[in-house]
Amino acid sequence: MTAIPEDIQKAAAILLSGGLVAFPTETVYGLGADAENPAAVAQIYAVKGRPSNHPVIVHLAPEADLNYWAESIPEEARKLIAAFWPGPLTLILKRAAHIPDCVSGGQDTIGLRCPSHPVAQALLRAFKGGQGGIAAPSANKFGHVSPTTTRHVQDEFGVGSKSEVQCILDGGQSEVGIESTIVDLSRIATHGPVLLRPGHISAHDIAGVIGTAPKIPDAAAPRVSGSLDSHYAPNTPVALIETDELPLILQRLATGGQKVAVIHRLTQQLPDTIAQLFLPETADGYAHDLYAALRLMDRAGADVILVEAPPRDSQWQGVNDRLDRAGHDSVGIIERLLPLEW
Ligand code: TXA
Ligand code: MG
Repeated sequence: MTAIPEDIQKAAAILLSGGLVAFPTETVYGLGADAENPAAVAQIYAVKGRPSNHPVIVHLAPEADLNYWAESIPEEARKLIAAFWPGPLTLILKRAAHIPDCVSGGQDTIGLRCPSHPVAQALLRAFKGGQGGIAAPSANKFGHVSPTTTRHVQDEFGVGSKSEVQCILDGGQSEVGIESTIVDLSRIATHGPVLLRPGHISAHDIAGVIGTAPKIPDAAAPRVSGSLDSHYAPNTPVALIETDELPLILQRLATGGQKVAVIHRLTQQLPDTIAQLFLPETADGYAHDLYAALRLMDRAGADVILVEAPPRDSQWQGVNDRLDRAGHDSVGIIERLLPLEW
């Protein structure tokens, strides 16, 4: 089911009145508010349980006037926009002085992105005649796995009159499945382009357009909540396991009475599990299914979710980044579950 025009108009009216709307994008679902209404943006933080010094991305329609939102826009930004917008790329630029700093957690920058999802675009065009901005982090509680379906959003915030999210627009399952690539161009003259979050658009793709590969962030780079070590995490501990170690670890955990769920890319069923999911061989296919898989395995009642570690090459950088963070708080879990053998 995809949102109909009446739903879009209703959602735009809710945004205009200062309310919250969840909407689909090609990456993950967003929890949106009017970017120029500080009280509405404060509501996002309250509902998500997110610290208010973490900036949010402002989503723009394809026809929006970039100069209204950002200033000192470098040539590299124009090139990246021409190549990748609408699409899963967020650019950090200098914020125009009149834009409220609630969207940037008090920093002098702004994160901008033009999503390609048709429902997101319809909403952006219906809101303030296509010239507004919708501030939207992923539509999940702070630190949780991002949602890629309306069902996931309902699982996070509830539904109906009891929910603070007044409307959830349906756009099917998000195609990319992991959050947008974030490139900081706000300090390009002194620091060059910096990759704040890897995603579907790779460092290699970016280098192909601007001639320089974005660097990894230094200590002075802008804060990115998705770059906290622990993020995107299910409630069940997650452990990344190399392919050749998987069968033995599974067997030992099962012998020790542990309930184990597994996400893997092998073509055969694994014994000794209470639940298992096969994800695609390609990085894009894997990313598409990853968050739904983590949510499903989180409901299996397992003591631990084992994830077969994907390849460490550049195509898999976005997926590996999310898996490393999902497993961050569970480091050492295998040793704790198997105290005698390991
Ligand atoms: O794919 C996406 O980017 C999704 C969809 C809904 O568009 N949104 C998303 O939002 O992932 P969120 O808030 O979960 O992550 C946005 C990231 C945060 O880590 C935030 O710190 C960073 O973008 N960010 C936003 N504005 C920024 C700014 N001015 N400076 C530095 N980082 C910024
Ligand atoms: Mg998020």
